[in-house]
Amino acid sequence: MTGPRFGGLADLARPLAGDLLRLATGRGGPGTGPLSIEDVRALARKRSCALPFSYVDSAAEDSTTHRANLRAFDEVTLRPNLLTDVRERDRGIRLFGRTLDSPVLLSPTGMPGIQHPDAEFAGAGAAHAAGTVFTVSMASSHSVTEIAARCPGPLWFQLYPWGNPDDFTPYVELARRAGCEALVVTLDTPVGGNREADVRTGFTMPPRITRANAGEVLRHPVRFGRWMKTLASGPGIRMGNIAETGATGGMNAVHQATKFESKFVPGFSAAELALVRGLWTGPLLVKGITTGEQARTAHAAGVDGVIVSNHGGRQLDGLPAALRALPEVAAALHGTGVEILLDGGIRRGTDILKALALGARAVMIGRPWVWGLAAAGRPGVDTVLRILHTELERDMALMGIRTLDELGPHSVNVPAAWAARPAGVAAADPEPASSTLAP
Ligand SMILES: Cc1cc2nc3c(=O)[nH]c(=O)nc-3n(C[C@H](O)[C@H](O)[C@H](O)COP(=O)(O)O)c2cc1C
Repeated sequence: MTGPRFGGLADLARPLAGDLLRLATGRGGPGTGPLSIEDVRALARKRSCALPFSYVDSAAEDSTTHRANLRAFDEVTLRPNLLTDVRERDRGIRLFGRTLDSPVLLSPTGMPGIQHPDAEFAGAGAAHAAGTVFTVSMASSHSVTEIAARCPGPLWFQLYPWGNPDDFTPYVELARRAGCEALVVTLDTPVGGNREADVRTGFTMPPRITRANAGEVLRHPVRFGRWMKTLASGPGIRMGNIAETGATGGMNAVHQATKFESKFVPGFSAAELALVRGLWTGPLLVKGITTGEQARTAHAAGVDGVIVSNHGGRQLDGLPAALRALPEVAAALHGTGVEILLDGGIRRGTDILKALALGARAVMIGRPWVWGLAAAGRPGVDTVLRILHTELERDMALMGIRTLDELGPHSVNVPAAWAARPAGVAAADPEPASSTLAP
């Protein structure tokens, strides 16, 4: 009997090549292409050099918060509404006066140019095609001006909490000129998080071959070579907005990064937030809210929206899961009209349903869109959104809902422990009209 012949490297590469082709073309039989966000992550891992992959995949210190983000979705279960006609379903939402075709927005992520030369052009293009928002990071690879020139939007712009108003004001102006519809101030980053993983993998900008990464480079020279090509053929380690603001235009990429880092002065307080509020007439959101108290402070400062987020576990390790923090924030903002969004750990359509049931108007994804980008550029990001939307539409039918507005606390069971709020929070919070949260 003749067994299957092994053709060496070509045979080894064939399944991966097939997956990438299916990812790129969107074609392929059932069970053949990436079926889930986890499959896209696995593809990104197979294709990428370990250094940039780990930069995206890892989190701060012991990854406690990152793991909690993912686990929290398993702790909440769904309460479907059967005997409902769900032939017609609509996954659209209204947010800040605009109708979006999806409740999944793209979170700001810095320097996607180190994953793929198309960087934000791929993310913003995919978001536009899906009728949703792309949020441009202040640390973007292409500048917000370049992105707006190529992608019709809607675009939002994210600002870091630099302590000196002279440093951040030009970026607010840049976002306005580019036509961004909302401004997001990330509050959870007075200083950078402790990302030990990057030190251990020898991830530096610009990349250097060091003792920490020499083994990886020698084991996977093709991936390392492909990464060097990516860096050389796109924006690489350039930071577009830094290059575009003021006198920094002539700086090389390394100087841009050094300059950027030096602006993280931990002095952004309520006074600076008030200043930003005064500068920006459109919707203003703050990102990094994890308690009811912070939510109330943000409301008092006049923001239009909060993003319940722990930065994907990349900043303060030990923060609660984003989903776990959501009911407390929703209770604190009840009746204020402040919009609530959530990011951190969204990987499934059911995760989206759970977050919306617990009070979020919309969710955002960080790592998933960057994995799609790393795996296959624009088609990879399209695939990520297609997977989430397909799951969401199926899950809406299984839940017996036609629109996302039908979701509420009655749609989920949460662990009893989630209802115990810190002292001082419970008293001030109006109870939702109907809730499966224990008193
Ligand atoms: C590679 C990477 C870069 C990021 N850069 C930024 C950034 O520039 N600004 C920001 O506010 N958040 C940044 N974040 C955090 C994301 O906006 C988001 O909060 C987080 O990724 C959500 O968790 P998820 O990755 O589980 O979806 C970054 C996250 C990743 C993975």
